[in-house]
Amino acid sequence: MPQSQSHLDSVRSMYDERSDRYDENQVHVKQAQDYCRWAGLKSGESLLDLACGTGLVALEAKRQVPGVGHIVGIDISEGMLSVARRKAAAAGLDDVRFLNHDISDLSAIRDEIVPATGEGFDVITCAAALILLPDPLRAVGEWQALLRPRGGRLITDVQTRDANVVMNIFSDIAPRVRESVPWHSELWQSQGELEKLALDAGLVVQMVFETDVYAKTRYYGDDAGQIFDDAVGKAMFGNFGRAEIREQARGLFVQRFKDMAGPEGAIEEETRYWVMVATKAG
Ligand SMILES: C[S@@+](CC[C@H](N)C(=O)[O-])C[C@H]1O[C@@H](n2cnc3c(N)ncnc32)[C@H](O)[C@@H]1O
Repeated sequence: MPQSQSHLDSVRSMYDERSDRYDENQVHVKQAQDYCRWAGLKSGESLLDLACGTGLVALEAKRQVPGVGHIVGIDISEGMLSVARRKAAAAGLDDVRFLNHDISDLSAIRDEIVPATGEGFDVITCAAALILLPDPLRAVGEWQALLRPRGGRLITDVQTRDANVVMNIFSDIAPRVRESVPWHSELWQSQGELEKLALDAGLVVQMVFETDVYAKTRYYGDDAGQIFDDAVGKAMFGNFGRAEIREQARGLFVQRFKDMAGPEGAIEEETRYWVMVATKAG
């Protein structure tokens, strides 16, 4: 089932707004470099980068792997895609195609994107986006149909449970102010869930692991109100800033934040990911 239009619209506006500054986040830049390593992409191999954003993984693959084959990136945010196309043109990498489409429903563009061999892609990546899909099993089922049989690889990830304090607090308070969030951290409580996803989709798990720390952030309980105010100024959390619920949401956010900060008055956040590499069987 394709995602609901309103869910896609909120994801799209979140990333359209962030697109021009997205690459300033070194976590994503570093993770894209690591993805190319985890994928073990070789000369001549094809790559489908799902939720490609600003093209970090797709363009890094071009840089890291001389002679790499057909590369396609797909995303729903035209803002992110414009940045990707701009970067590709500036680097003379115009043969990388960036298309606007919902990655949970690729059937309509299958023939347009598959490599000329007709066998499917050697590698499919989906970096830092699985958490945004309401039905990941359905999506991965579609993706594996686009993988080359016997050894085509899928690499994807979710952030670890405690990797994003602010997002988690908004998830916790959402039902109390009758709001929803466009990410689905509730589906990803352990790295075992990634393994289960691959198995349920009929893939063979090669490895599931937790990454090293990509970034550390120290938050102070006394800053909770300001953190809320800054967050609701962005599309990602903007619905919590609606006039009718803002004060209630702010109160709940500050309380939860201070509870987490405890007597020390501080929260240490470590950005890490659970990563899965799986292959298509025969
Ligand atoms: C955190 S960014 C990751 C971008 C890129 N993979 C990277 O590692 O830098 C999440 C991306 O997922 C895209 N996205 C989320 N849901 C999508 C969907 N259903 N179809 C296509 N793109 C989607 C967003 O537009 C956004 O560009």
